[in-house]
Amino acid sequence: MNNKKVIFSGIKPSGDLHLGNYLGAISQWVELQDKYECLFCVVNYHAITVRQDPETLKQRTKDIVRVYLASGINPKKSTIFLQSDVYEHTELAWILNCTSTRMSDLNKMTQFKDKARNNGTSVSVGLFDYPVLMAADILLYNTDIVPVGDDQVQHVELCRDLAKRFNHDYAPTFKLPEVMIRKQGARIMSLSNPENKMSKSAEGDSGCIFLNDALEAARKKIMKAVTDSGSEVKYDLNEKPALSNLMTIYHLLTGESYKDIKKDYEGQGYGDFKKGLADVVVKFLTEFQKKYNAISDKEVAKVLERGATCAKVLAQETIKKVKERVGII
Ligand code: TYM
Repeated sequence: MNNKKVIFSGIKPSGDLHLGNYLGAISQWVELQDKYECLFCVVNYHAITVRQDPETLKQRTKDIVRVYLASGINPKKSTIFLQSDVYEHTELAWILNCTSTRMSDLNKMTQFKDKARNNGTSVSVGLFDYPVLMAADILLYNTDIVPVGDDQVQHVELCRDLAKRFNHDYAPTFKLPEVMIRKQGARIMSLSNPENKMSKSAEGDSGCIFLNDALEAARKKIMKAVTDSGSEVKYDLNEKPALSNLMTIYHLLTGESYKDIKKDYEGQGYGDFKKGLADVVVKFLTEFQKKYNAISDKEVAKVLERGATCAKVLAQETIKKVKERVGII
């Protein structure tokens, strides 16, 4: 074991991944690999909190591993694994449910309230309990830092609360993780409705650039993106929320500062800027998809096997300690 700090994060295979997932989470992870001990999980038990088609779920689970690899997560540096390969996730979630979680904690979760509203009467208990499974994911690995988009901040805060309660009620056991969100890109908004975040489950898909979108479809979505009144290309979240979101995508994909982007488009209108952004996005997708398509099923299987072996060792150490504290033999 080295003494690098531990990073844990994950994505659920409940839909195709989009630029929000990439810019808010995955691209940030790539930068962290050299400095930290990183674990990146495909959290497939989280996906079944809402109904999934079984065959599609199996395929998507493997596709997310491909996205990780194509994005530059290096399996020689980071542990990439499936939640369902390490049984301790669900085991710890049950223990935390019983020992440390109150109904009132989960009643406060805004993401549950939003999702429950959209799912009518068929809301599962799993959807309500989901943040406890997420806490278990994080706490099993003595995680120091959790890099996520800003919609997950409340869940990480709950994880800290559960850890604190367990440590207080039994004995010091869990490390308290910190959330890490990007200064820019923590919340990429929909292209068609800049008041909503870009989302796998949003109605229609015109506001969402998927990583597997056909290039021309992606270009069209950018050209159709909603903009604000006025015509000057400048970053201003209050006056120009829609354009600022587009500029953030441009900034994150090219590394160009907002100031330089503004200079480049001086005297030009929104249409010219959108054409430029469409070129940037198409270039990114072309390179990304080339790498993605070159990754074989065999490679995915190999990465997951090695990842599960590494993750299990760490998870088993934690669960042993937890069961001892609670009195489970
Ligand atoms: P999920 O699968 O919904 O999203 C994966 C990651 O993408 C980020 N994200 C965004 N970032 C910026 N702009 C957006 N529009 C956008 N949409 C999504 C999310 O914040 C997330 O970082 N509960 C988690 C998965 C999870 C997890 C964990 C994460 C389960 N256990 C433990 C960290 C640690 C989720 O549903 O993410």
